Amino acid sequence: MEWKAKWIRESRDAADVCPLYRKEFIIEKEVDQATLYVTAWGVYEAVLNGRRVGEFVLAPGWTSYETRLQYQAYDVKGLLARENKLEVTVGKGWYRSPMLGWEHSPVQQERMKKPAGLLAQLEIIYRDGSETMLVTDENWTWGESGVRFSEIYDGETYDASMTLRADRPVRVLDVREQALIPQQGEEVREQEKIRPARIFTTPAGERVVDFGQEVTGYVEISLTANRGERVELSHGEVMDSKGNFYTANYREAKAKLKYICKEGRQSYKPKMTFFGFRYIRIDEFPGGTDQARPENFTAIAVHSQMRRTGYLRCAHPLLNRLFENIVWGQKGNFVDVPTDCPQRNERLGWTGDAQVFIRTACLHFDVKKFFIKWLDDMAADQQEDGQIGHIVPDIWKGKPSSAAWGDAAAICPWELYQAYGDLEALRRQFPMMKKWVDSIGKHTTTPYLWTGGEHYGDWLGLDAPSGSYKGSSREDFIASAFYAYSTKLVTWAGEALGEEVSAYRELYRNIEKAFRNAYPEYRTQTECVLALYFGLCEDPKKTEALLAEMIRACGGHLETGFVGTPYLLHVLSDQGDTKLAYDLLLREEYPSWLYPVTKGATTIWEHWDGIRQDGSFWSEDMNSFNHYAYGAVADWVYRVAAGITPLEPGYKRVRVAPHPEERLGELEAILHTEEGTIRSRWQKTEEGWRYDIETPVCAQIRIGEEEYEVPAGVYRYYSRLGGRND
Ligand code: BGC
Repeated sequence: MEWKAKWIRESRDAADVCPLYRKEFIIEKEVDQATLYVTAWGVYEAVLNGRRVGEFVLAPGWTSYETRLQYQAYDVKGLLARENKLEVTVGKGWYRSPMLGWEHSPVQQERMKKPAGLLAQLEIIYRDGSETMLVTDENWTWGESGVRFSEIYDGETYDASMTLRADRPVRVLDVREQALIPQQGEEVREQEKIRPARIFTTPAGERVVDFGQEVTGYVEISLTANRGERVELSHGEVMDSKGNFYTANYREAKAKLKYICKEGRQSYKPKMTFFGFRYIRIDEFPGGTDQARPENFTAIAVHSQMRRTGYLRCAHPLLNRLFENIVWGQKGNFVDVPTDCPQRNERLGWTGDAQVFIRTACLHFDVKKFFIKWLDDMAADQQEDGQIGHIVPDIWKGKPSSAAWGDAAAICPWELYQAYGDLEALRRQFPMMKKWVDSIGKHTTTPYLWTGGEHYGDWLGLDAPSGSYKGSSREDFIASAFYAYSTKLVTWAGEALGEEVSAYRELYRNIEKAFRNAYPEYRTQTECVLALYFGLCEDPKKTEALLAEMIRACGGHLETGFVGTPYLLHVLSDQGDTKLAYDLLLREEYPSWLYPVTKGATTIWEHWDGIRQDGSFWSEDMNSFNHYAYGAVADWVYRVAAGITPLEPGYKRVRVAPHPEERLGELEAILHTEEGTIRSRWQKTEEGWRYDIETPVCAQIRIGEEEYEVPAGVYRYYSRLGGRND
């Protein structure tokens, strides 16, 4: 399409109030096609003749706006009439809200000075073949909308009692936006409605609604009220040890919903923001907070449109709940970009978190389009010298990279290729991968290792020295190990693409040699895990034995943080110690994956001990209850426990090698791939283990010691109880 529209804005700065832009027009002829193209500096909601245009919440989404600003195209034929009124409200959104770190970010400071700009173009083709176009220009008008305030972290204030007027002339801006691109990602949409599980009064005397599930989205309120009465809600994730409403972990994010009522029956849901919450506290309600009833509130979960592709199910209630929590963690943190958390004053596209979780993400949902868009933002934000920011979109621009965070530039494209087999996407991302690896060579203080710089280390590892967020694994060790891994991925990607990568092969050999010389011994669980998983140790058996010994020595539990955890169970089972991997997976005492579940978690916690055994919190300021990173363990359940792995990218050939476990008795994994459905189920029966396997493509099946090459089909096998196929 060709843009003829002009950017428009309010005629005077409306400060916190979101402007409402309006255009009225008449249609005299029969319409064949009508497409509305829109974008804004912020987030917008378009309404045509009183009906919302499209389902995209928080459009135009979050991208690296300076180089990539998406616009959307909506088919609006069904909304048109003879006399028409098109209205668009523009809020601050990610574009102009003060996102974390804005004080030091020139990028954000520039953005926040911008007005609530709108660009819209309606193209109509009539039945008789003639065409007309209606564009934002000086003929539009504006007024203050009912949205009196709206920011990503602080929430929204809406006044339904106002009579809206939008009759002031707009200002036309003299800008040529260079960055416009058509919608590339998935749309963010309302996905599920959740009714309150209960409403109750806390020991502190506050009225609280519990939705029974932590969600990302917002609450819809429905009530009958008098004009001018108010509803005010605060959002919370957990209750404190005394059973009181708790918001300290939201840090500076106010996360409030304020609503001023009109007369009569009404309902409202926020338009321009979102919250991460399980509980709401009713701070104000018509007639008093004790008048609030469960039927006044519905939680609406909002996330990127992603087709569910993977399911895990077993006979172990806590483990099933963990699987559910992992899925909810993904839903709650896939709101147009993969975020660390949805509630506090971050909600940023942390690269490290995304690379840790991407494999699991690709199993549970089809996230191909979602990640391709995000990786294009990553490439757009890659610094001149190849460094990759801590977050994407990189609103902090210019910070030097951290190992395992910047490595998302190599890991994410590779994992996406493994999951979907899209060679063209990999080809587009390949230059970024190479540039990333090259940049490490420029920043290190030791050739063929990555030493120096500032890193997040094994973030939140339990072996952290007191008072530190970083586990005890050596930072140079982690950085060098990831240098090796990313280089290896560049060689693999290059081979898949038919590119010349001998220089990277050579580089890898040098890194491997330097690494082995520099780090002959391993001091922590995560160091063992990385050396094993990245193929850097000379004696894997010995290293695995050392890791197992470290696990036993600390009381039979993991001590790994963000960096080591996703690979931990894999390296144990790779070396034949599937029993120990299951011990860790099934452990219920702190620290473990199931411990938060025993504490009532409905999503994945940022910390293994977000809530301690005595009910106290790990910390006030750094304690999210919806951080997906540790949910990466689902990948092991699909790949090793159920045994499904792609032998060729995109599951064009697969291997199914289940590892049954007595303590579980039963497990089923279902995976809908582009090739068809793969199913792997094992179950303990009186005769022994029974395996039901379905494959849509040629598969290698391994049951116990036996291996079979089979064509697409449905298969059943039996093996002795107790038999393990390590
Ligand atoms: C985020 C993380 C992120 C980390 C960087 C935190 O504040 O929530 O998930 O990866 O900072 O270490």
